Amino acid sequence: MKIFLAGGAGYIGCHTALQLLNNGYEVVIADNFSNSCPEAVKRVEALTGKKIALYEIDVQDGAKVKEVFAQEQPDAVIHFAGLKAVGESVQQPIRYYRNNINTTLSLLEAMEATGVKKIIFSSSATVYGEENPSPYKENMPKGSCTNPYGWTKSMMEQIFQDVALTDPELSIVILRYFNPIGAHESGEIGEDPKGIPNNLMPYITQTAVGIREKLTVFGDDYDTPDGTCQRDYIHVMDLADGHVKAVEYLNREQGIDIINLGTGTPYSVLELVNAFQKVNDMKVNYVIGTRRAGDLPVCYADASKAARVLGWKAKRGLEDMCRDSWNWQRKNPQGYRK
Ligand code: NAD
Ligand code: UFG
Repeated sequence: MKIFLAGGAGYIGCHTALQLLNNGYEVVIADNFSNSCPEAVKRVEALTGKKIALYEIDVQDGAKVKEVFAQEQPDAVIHFAGLKAVGESVQQPIRYYRNNINTTLSLLEAMEATGVKKIIFSSSATVYGEENPSPYKENMPKGSCTNPYGWTKSMMEQIFQDVALTDPELSIVILRYFNPIGAHESGEIGEDPKGIPNNLMPYITQTAVGIREKLTVFGDDYDTPDGTCQRDYIHVMDLADGHVKAVEYLNREQGIDIINLGTGTPYSVLELVNAFQKVNDMKVNYVIGTRRAGDLPVCYADASKAARVLGWKAKRGLEDMCRDSWNWQRKNPQGYRK
């Protein structure tokens, strides 16, 4: 079975490509490298000993996507291609709506034109909004998002819901990711943010390796056990395995379904920093700062649906996440740029 990964050169995409190849699937990647590079794909090929058909295209370009579909004849699509920086989306909302919505529409049009019926979509816990209490369950009504990035995810989910009604043969899985961190245990592939990281783990590893002077913990006066925000951190290799299970599910069921990919266990910012220091036996310079606008105090999954319908559960713990994130950063201080 051949899977087309839109945005497959990125952080989650390349780990998923690796696990798909390890499970006997063929992989095609289309990426414009706006937030990634071909080196990640080369390393996946080296780790697996298998070839990936790689197309440098903008997935917004429907004609090009159709050409690749005609050439490769994929059986299913995984849609990772999107812009994802929350703060940037507030500064550049038009670019975010344009890119994220257009990539989705051009993939759906290419599927319709070529008879591809199966797609997995990368959504986010952010669609639960502020109204819902954690643990988040898939049957809660979506909430209001605090930024344009989140709204693109919420809108794209609606597009998939509407399209699902038009063809009973379609099989669509919306995966709502929580906070992916970690890297493949080899340290050959991992998260390689451009510029100053927005997310906690790459900020910790860049501080540990000396690229950043110190981490700022955004607020310690939340109503949580240690005052810092709690998140559901999930190892990116567990997330990748979740996609392999979701592909199996696409083959079993038609219609549309929404599934959380999280561990169900929240950890605070300070718990993550302390676990990182302990498991890697090192100090991370940090200071307590003020709250970051838009942060929710607590965000974690009810992970029971993924166990029930996919037969998937996260296996790796916080220590694995901290060890593997550091292993990647230590071996690649400048990311993929040697
Ligand atoms: P990433 O930026 O590493 O990967 C996204 C990939 O899509 C990149 O390789 C980028 O170059 C590519 N891309 C973007 N626009 C494109 C376009 N128009 N045409 C072709 N390629 C394009 O991000 P990631 O962390 O791997 O995230 C993958 C998906 O999961 C994204 O949709 C993201 O919004 C979603 N998601 C991520 C997180 C997270 O914390 N990492 C959480 C929830 C959801
Ligand atoms: N944090 C710090 N210092 C930093 C960076 C982050 O203290 O330098 C804190 C944040 O305040 C938050 C926690 O670390 O409490 C996690 O922050 P991240 O930015 O790593 O992750 P978020 O939970 O804010 O957002 C992530 C993704 C979003 C996605 C959301 C829900 O970045 O795309 O999870 O899935 F929408």
